[in-house]
Parts: sequence; C-alpha cells; structure tokens
Amino acid sequence: MSVALASPSPMRDGEVALRPVSSSVAALVVAASHDPEITRWTQVPDGLTIVDAALITAGWAMPSTRTARYQVLLPELGPAGMVTVWMNPADEAEVGYWLLPSARGRGVARRAVGLLCTWAFDECGLEQLQLTTLPGNLASEKVAQACGFHRRGTLPRDIKGVRCTLDVWVRGAGAVAEPVSAR
Ligand SMILES: CC(C)(COP(=O)(O)OP(=O)(O)OC[C@H]1O[C@@H](n2cnc3c(N)ncnc32)[C@H](O)[C@@H]1OP(=O)(O)O)[C@@H](O)C(=O)NCCC(=O)NCCS
Repeated sequence: MSVALASPSPMRDGEVALRPVSSSVAALVVAASHDPEITRWTQVPDGLTIVDAALITAGWAMPSTRTARYQVLLPELGPAGMVTVWMNPADEAEVGYWLLPSARGRGVARRAVGLLCTWAFDECGLEQLQLTTLPGNLASEKVAQACGFHRRGTLPRDIKGVRCTLDVWVRGAGAVAEPVSAR
C-alpha cells in the first residue's frame, strides 16, 4: 500500500519558521540556481531565469500526498531555503534541503531538517526517513548526523544526467537529534 503524506502546515522553533511552499517561490529558486554550492550538491538546475523557475514551481502549491515542500524563513532574511520530504518510487520517504549562502553557518539547516523530521514522523506516521549525499558534501553529512541519521550504504542514481554513487543515510522515528547549541 502506498504511503500518503499529510498536508503541510506551518511550523517554527525559536529561530526558524517553515511555511508550506506557495506559488511565490520562483525568486528563491532562481537565487538557489545561481549558487554554486546548491547546484553542485543538489538537483537544482544551474542558472534559471525567473520564467524557468516559474514553470518549474507552478505546480508546487497544488496539494500532493507524495511531496511536501517547505520554505525556510528567517526573521531577518525572509525566505532563505527549502526543505522537502517526498515518497520515492520505492515508497521510501526521502528528505532534501538547501539554504542560500546568507543563511548558512549557524545551525539553520539542523533546525529546519529537525522540524521537518518531527512533522514527518508525528503528522505523517512515517517510521523511517532517508536522505542521500554526494561524496564530499561534508556540511550536509554533518547536518544528517546532527539530525539523527546514520549512514546505511550507497546507492547509484542519476544526478542531472550523470551516474553517481550516493551515500544513503537513514533515521528511524525513535532516533534522537543533537540539540542545536547557540553559536
Ligand atoms: C548543507 C547545508 C544545508 C548546511 O546548512 P547550514 O545551516 O549552513 O549548516 P552549518 O553551517 O550549521 O553546518 C553544519 C555543519 O557542517 C560544518 N560545515 C559547514 N561547511 C563545511 C565544509 N565546507 N566542510 C566541512 N564542514 C562544514 C559546520 O561546521 C557544521 O558543523 P557543526 O554542526 O559540527 O558545527 C548548506 O551548506 C547548503 O545549503 N549547502 C548546499 C546545498 C546542499 O549541499 N544541500 C544538501 C544536499 S544533500
């Protein structure tokens, strides 16, 4: 039986807010597509125009039981990144994340991914989450570890048309994330 995700709802902790993606994320996706770290490590295409991004994001606000996308909002920056959970073709729940450079280096990803994991376990009733990292993405590996994921093995997958070997990380519902310390 295939798994259905709950409808995304706003979440926050003391420093970070997650808001379900609306049709207004095209500018955020354009900014992401011009950041070399995001395009190096994720499926976000390079150098999108606002028209490209509007076409890509047009359907993102539509209700889906297979994908839940959230904008990461910071009080001083506004929209600063995205975190997503989706059901892959094998019906495994996967997590993905990126932040614009101005939001990095102060534990925002750990907080945002932590909120997303709590939502996925508590509101969707999932028992396990997984994420994948490209070899060498040390910042992402640290976020995964801090959020309670452990490395399970590797997986071949096409990333933008290139065959890659990804590291696979998993976290069960009972895993404990490290607290985010003040920086
Ligand atoms: C991965 C990403 C979301 C991390 O977000 P963040 O909030 O900036 O995370 P932080 O800066 O707090 O860093 C997390 C940890 O990685 C470490 N780190 C950051 N950059 C690093 C680097 N280039 N090399 C080694 N470690 C690094 C930090 O010191 C921190 O370690 P700590 O928790 O022990 O203090 C962000 O760097 C990003 O958007 N990168 C591009 C997109 C991407 O890689 N997405 C994930 C795809 S799997």
